[in-house]
Amino acid sequence: MQQGKPSRTAWGAAVHRAAHQVLEHGFIFNDPLAMRILGADAEGAVREAENDPSRRKLRLFIAVRTRFAEDALATAVARCGVRQLVVLGAGLDTYAYRSSLGEGLRIFEVDHPATQAWKRQRLSEAAIPVPRTLVFAPVDFELETLADGLAAAGFDAAQPTFFTWLGVVPYLTEQAVFSTLGFIGSLPGGAQVVFDYGNPPSSSGKQDEYGAVREALAARVASLGEAFESVFETDALHAKLRALGFREVEDLGPGSIRERYFAKRGGPSPDRGGHIVRATTA
Ligand SMILES: C[S@@+](CC[C@H](N)C(=O)[O-])C[C@H]1O[C@@H](n2cnc3c(N)ncnc32)[C@H](O)[C@@H]1O
Repeated sequence: MQQGKPSRTAWGAAVHRAAHQVLEHGFIFNDPLAMRILGADAEGAVREAENDPSRRKLRLFIAVRTRFAEDALATAVARCGVRQLVVLGAGLDTYAYRSSLGEGLRIFEVDHPATQAWKRQRLSEAAIPVPRTLVFAPVDFELETLADGLAAAGFDAAQPTFFTWLGVVPYLTEQAVFSTLGFIGSLPGGAQVVFDYGNPPSSSGKQDEYGAVREALAARVASLGEAFESVFETDALHAKLRALGFREVEDLGPGSIRERYFAKRGGPSPDRGGHIVRATTA
């Protein structure tokens, strides 16, 4: 993140979601506010996406991770009595503004202070009402603990809580990632978290298609001042999650994502790519 400036990759992820509504008619993930939150720049940003087919894979991955997280949240609310949601590194995520759960779900949006201030400005310009059940909690994960930021916002650690943490882990140091997961894993009320991560480049040293795409993406986000900081080996990450208090770990790699969401269409490459994890303590 550039000092004092909102996240540029948050804008990028929101453009992918908006473009998915227009170019793929939201077949994975339907978000009626995705265009509106982008404001006057929405149409131009979508046209740009349309003219660059190389963006499709990442766009679909972003659509899948959001859909997966919101489906898991709906299940947690219906079956596990979850009444508290924390959206970590929220960017321009619109869930809080279109949730049908109303008073039934307290929502905390946690983000870097500069990104959060910019989002609030965009919400106001787009005349998107902020529900009474939403609390904004500005936190820089590299400088402050999530525990302090949430406590200041009135978070109740004794309530079962669902966390979404989408498109953020790769930008944080391993220490910041595990300190946040350690906090979530030790909550007395129990917790569930959905996040995404990437594997390290191929250990064979040979550059495959995924390696080339990831290298190009890494160069792009670094040029925006938001370099990738961490990647994880799947088995080692699962072991760490268990050590941090998570009992159940579901990990969707590229093969499972393809099977679940793109059985009849072209989707992300089946062998390598981003992973989406759902980990739960109860
Ligand atoms: C790629 S965006 C993802 C935004 C959103 N979750 C989404 O899927 O659209 C990365 C987010 O991580 C946040 N972020 C990055 N570094 C952070 C830090 N050190 N502390 C807090 N938030 C951070 C940015 O502000 C931004 O909102």
